[in-house]
This record gives sequence, structure tokens and C-alpha cells, in this order.
Amino acid sequence: MNTVKTVRELRAAVARARGEGKRIALVPTMGNLHAGHAALVAKAGQRADFVVASIFVNPLQFGPSEDLDKYPRTLAADQARLLEAGCHLLFAPGVEEMYPDGMEGQTKVSVPGVSEGLCGGSRPGHFDGVATVVCKLLNMVQPDMALFGEKDFQQLAVIRKLVRDLNIPVQIFGEPTVRAEDGLALSSRNGYLNDDERARAPVIQRTLRQLAEALRGGSRDFPALLEEGRRQIEAAGLRVDYLEIREALSLRPADAGDRQVVVLAAAFLGKTRLIDNLPLQLN
Ligand code: PAJ
Repeated sequence: MNTVKTVRELRAAVARARGEGKRIALVPTMGNLHAGHAALVAKAGQRADFVVASIFVNPLQFGPSEDLDKYPRTLAADQARLLEAGCHLLFAPGVEEMYPDGMEGQTKVSVPGVSEGLCGGSRPGHFDGVATVVCKLLNMVQPDMALFGEKDFQQLAVIRKLVRDLNIPVQIFGEPTVRAEDGLALSSRNGYLNDDERARAPVIQRTLRQLAEALRGGSRDFPALLEEGRRQIEAAGLRVDYLEIREALSLRPADAGDRQVVVLAAAFLGKTRLIDNLPLQLN
């Protein structure tokens, strides 16, 4: 596996693979890789012949009071994990390579509708930063496909709409959330939790599962269900940022007739903000 830091080297390496007739997959990340990222890379290797991963902690998607500076940078361990997962090329640019004219002067991509509310409500500008950097990465690599985790369900919806609205010729795959044994969704931010917080964190996933059970059982009193879910998460000492039931494709608030829905949650555990979701099909 080669690691390159410039767009020029990236394009040259991708062109070589393309010249050999290979199908290219891109897996964008911010590094500090865990088994969830590795699963995306492994899946990419099944779907394509040449897997490109990127590691870039994108300042444009962090708010002023967020964890940009303390976000873990673990390049050597990440390279080992990517190699093991079957990655062929790592693109790990610096900020100047991605934003040579600075971030103020950068053309930005804004995806209306799906970016609003949920994480977009609590993190203003976040999805503009995500959409902008993903758009740039897709243009730099020009892959046949790109893979993203359902863990970041709203992000996936934003990227699907970005690609559709801007006619970017790439196929987007959403892959299931990889979890720890106790159900907690793997996340780089889990590393911020102390032992006590880590022990309480699975309440988010447990609550989502209970809500899903109630929905499958026919309950449609969304406000009552969500109120009870919120109470349960807060009883474990977390602060709920949001807990919502949405229609899974459009992400508009769900109504009783919807078949494909998703229950989404964000909660603070101390200073750490965790998110999770559970998509489900109702009959
Ligand atoms: P990052 O948080 O590093 O995640 C990179 C990819 O891994 C995303 O597609 C995310 O949904 C996926 N992922 C994270 N945890 C996962 C888990 N437990 N199971 C399955 N997939 C998981 O998301 C970003 O980076 C950035 O916003 C990015 C898209 C790279 C743009 O900067």
C-alpha cells in the first residue's frame, strides 16, 4: 500500500490502476481507524479492484467549539490497519493541499433539506463542510464507487443527494454500522470516554432497539415513545441532544403511514457527543 500526500501523486496512482482496467473504490475517513472503517475498506475490496482510502481531518466540518485540535491523529496505526484490510492506496493530504487558498476563499457545497435538523441543527455548517470535502475527494479520485457507513445516517443522506444533485458519476454504497459487543457503535470519539462513561454509553443503542421493537409491535404514538426513550437515556446520566423518528429516505419527520423509518439519537456523555441510529422496515 502506497501513501501519497498530494493530489498530483494521487491522480497519477489512480490513473495507473485505471490504465490496468481496474474498478476504483474510495473510502473517505478522518483517520483514527477502527473496525468500522476496516469493514468499509474490506467491503470496498469486494466491490472493486483498487481501493483508495483517504485520511483527512477536515477543519471545514468542525465548529469553533468542537474537537478539531484534539481529534486523534494516528497515521502509523491507521496505515497498518488499512494494509490489513486490503487498501491499495492511502491519500493523506495536509490542510494546505486540500485548501490551498484557505478555507474562507473555498467554494462550498451546501445540500438543502437533508442537512437541516438532527446533527445539522446542533452543528451549524457541519454538513456544508462534509459535502464540500467529499465533493473535492470525489473529483480528485473520480472513483467508480464510494463507500460510507450508516453509522452517520444523515451524512450518508447528504452525500447521496449531493451526488444526485451535482450529477457526480459515482455509485454510493451505505454499509451497516459495526458495533462493540455491548452494542455501542464504534466511533473514534469513544476513545474520549472514561471507564464509567464507556459502561453507560450502550444505553443509546438499547433505547433505539426498544423504540424499534415498539414500532414493529404497531405503536405509532411517536411523542410518547420518544419521551420514554429520552427519559431512559437521561436516567443513565446522558444529556439527549436529539431523539427522533424520521422517514429513512427523505429524513423528514416520520408519519404513522411510513414504512421505511429510522430512529436517530445524539447524546452527550460528559463532553463527548455520541450518535447512533437504527433503520427499520415497518409492515
Ligand atoms: P469518519 O468519522 O472517520 O468516518 C469515515 C467513514 O466510516 C464514514 O463513512 C463513517 O460513516 C464510517 N464509520 C464510522 N464509524 C462506523 C461504524 N461503527 N460502522 C460502520 N461505518 C462507520 O465520516 C467522516 O469520517 C467524515 O465526515 C468524512 C466522510 C470522511 C468527510 O470528512
